Amino acid sequence: RTLRIGLIPGDGIGREVIPAGRRILEALPASFKLKFSFVDLDAGFETFKQTGAALPDKTVDTLKNECDGALFGAVSSPSVKTEGYSSPIVALRKRLALYANVRPVRTVATAKSPVDLVIVRENTEDLYVKEEKTYDGPDGKVAEAIKRITEKASFNIAQMAGDIAVRRQRVRDSGAPSIHKQPLVTVTHKSNVLSQTDGLFRETARKALAQDAYKNVKVEEQIVDSMVYKLFRQPSDYDVIVAPNLYGDILSDGAAALVGSLGLVPSANVGKGFAIGEPCHGSAPDIEGKGIANPIATLRSTALMLEFMNEEAAAAAIYAAVDANLEEGKLLTPDMGGSAKTDEVVEDILKRL
Ligand code: NAI
Ligand code: MG
Repeated sequence: RTLRIGLIPGDGIGREVIPAGRRILEALPASFKLKFSFVDLDAGFETFKQTGAALPDKTVDTLKNECDGALFGAVSSPSVKTEGYSSPIVALRKRLALYANVRPVRTVATAKSPVDLVIVRENTEDLYVKEEKTYDGPDGKVAEAIKRITEKASFNIAQMAGDIAVRRQRVRDSGAPSIHKQPLVTVTHKSNVLSQTDGLFRETARKALAQDAYKNVKVEEQIVDSMVYKLFRQPSDYDVIVAPNLYGDILSDGAAALVGSLGLVPSANVGKGFAIGEPCHGSAPDIEGKGIANPIATLRSTALMLEFMNEEAAAAAIYAAVDANLEEGKLLTPDMGGSAKTDEVVEDILKRL
């Protein structure tokens, strides 16, 4: 199978870590029967300064027409409001209908307090429809925002969570180390207060997860505030967490803190039949150009992209090579307390692969 991958480094350390994603795909052993071709694509603040567009149409068209998947590094946002600039990754999610943001957060299995969970966040609606208004009320200004929840988007995201739970179990059954024995989806909401919006999310998620395909998946619910408490007290209790957009955003950044460096945490933006792997960190201007960015978030994002292409075995091999590097703990970048360069960490992981 030959897969064509769009590479969108973006700004800052995005340019230093995305090449690592390419290298690990090229280094996959022949036994996986995968070949890759790559196309370099522009997006970001530099691109905006040069061309006036943060997300050129060519980038979107190439992804749509030619690519099986993509890797996105990071983009810088201007520190002052800049006319005509808006985030290319947000636009990309919209234009490619990438309705889910998937963020696995895990430690190596031998960690003192092991974590192995994934947050599945709805990515198109909720308060992020950005329909806000301000008007004068009797006691001064009033600002309002629309929180929109649809049955369709809630169903789709819950189904994605169910599919991920099933896939994670399949990988475990094939012998991959894990702290979990049984697939579990935790539906997060605040329907005790927001009975209509979050109520619809909850009810629809329940319906989606009651389908036959998920009959072996245990389904639980957790009100979002106590979810935060329990997630930080006992993260090992969670397997797959599904949430509407805003709660998912907060939970996924918070959960990243459970495993230390931002340089370790991957994500994927996922739609029907297409996924873009994206490290969770930004363009890190403070370390840009020093060659010390941690490549692991990108390597794991590359593996995650492969999972959504149904190449689970290849993905598992990348995860295992990364884990072996971390478990030995000798070649680490400075964010992990080491003194290795990006390239030295990549070389070490390629060798293990
Ligand atoms: P950041 O994630 O770029 O950096 C936060 C801190 O973590 C910095 O000290 C940085 O050196 C460190 N760090 C991040 N990734 C690392 C890695 N791979 N290896 C080692 N250390 C790493 O967040 P910050 O500083 O808030 O934002 C910088 C720029 O990035 C801003 O312009 C922001 O808008 C943008 N950004 C873009 C994102 C995206 O493209 N999805 C996400 C977050 C921020
Ligand atoms: Mg966030």
